[in-house]
Amino acid sequence: MINTRVAIIGCGNIGISILQGLLKQQTIPSKNITATRRNIEELASLKGSGVKLTSDNIAAIKESDLIIIAVKPYNIVNVLEELKDHLNTGKHLLVSVTAGVTINKIQEVIGTKVPVFRAMPNISASVGTSVTCLCHNGAKSEEIELVKHLFDIVGTTMTIDEDLMESATVLGACGIAYVLRFIRAMIQGGIQIGFDAATAGAIVNQTVKGAAELLIERHQHPEFEIDKVTTPKGCTIVGLNEMEHNGFSSSLIKGLVASFEKIEK
Ligand SMILES: NC(=O)c1ccc[n+]([C@@H]2O[C@H](COP(=O)([O-])OP(=O)(O)OC[C@H]3O[C@@H](n4cnc5c(N)ncnc54)[C@H](OP(=O)(O)O)[C@@H]3O)[C@@H](O)[C@H]2O)c1
Repeated sequence: MINTRVAIIGCGNIGISILQGLLKQQTIPSKNITATRRNIEELASLKGSGVKLTSDNIAAIKESDLIIIAVKPYNIVNVLEELKDHLNTGKHLLVSVTAGVTINKIQEVIGTKVPVFRAMPNISASVGTSVTCLCHNGAKSEEIELVKHLFDIVGTTMTIDEDLMESATVLGACGIAYVLRFIRAMIQGGIQIGFDAATAGAIVNQTVKGAAELLIERHQHPEFEIDKVTTPKGCTIVGLNEMEHNGFSSSLIKGLVASFEKIEK
């Protein structure tokens, strides 16, 4: 992995998150990473990091083995058209994090000369805690391992069927926004019951982290842990039931399904 050269084509929100995660972990030397976008001045904060910064996508892939395409769906075909004649069999692996664009569509544009993966990370890649769902179309095991290793650097990775990629986008990539909105609401509530915003935020952040760690370490269903907190006739169950009467779980599920329906269109 240390010798793998990575190009991130389209370094916006998710591209930069992956890049920051890679720089944080230092598994891949920064000199082996190239980041592109057209408006390269937007990457000025990376000057001095060792990462090569360019608006020349072709130059970027010529110096790289693993290519991450991180442009918006309406930009990907143009970018692939630009790159296709410079993709080398036996050298390049192409990973698209672009939502909703299938491997078949990508191969239709570039031909079938290089292995194509889709990946769906989230912005917590920047701090090494993304969950990345991966799929491919018959890639070799060593190619899968390489791509998996890359995303393992910025969090955890799982391989899924391509027909679940839209669901993965909603649950993992959009999901972080739902959780952040939940955290914001908790903080607002914390302020109303007496804490200043900073203290409320510190308590809520650690509580959310603790809840997630509990489930990750113990492999339990949330309700198993909730039962430990809900004393009969106590304040927790009263609060939880009030939230449910107001549609807490239902509104989350409806929101998630609305995101999914939007992405399916
Ligand atoms: N944001 C997330 O949390 C997230 C998570 C997982 C997946 N995704 C998916 O990743 C894709 C990008 O999302 P985003 O939120 O990162 O969008 P974004 O912030 O707009 O980033 C896309 C970047 O692509 C660059 N770009 C556009 N055309 C280019 C070209 N021809 N050559 C080089 N760079 C080019 C743009 O910069 P210039 O205009 O300067 O070129 C922009 O910075 C989307 O499909 C999204 O669904 C996003």
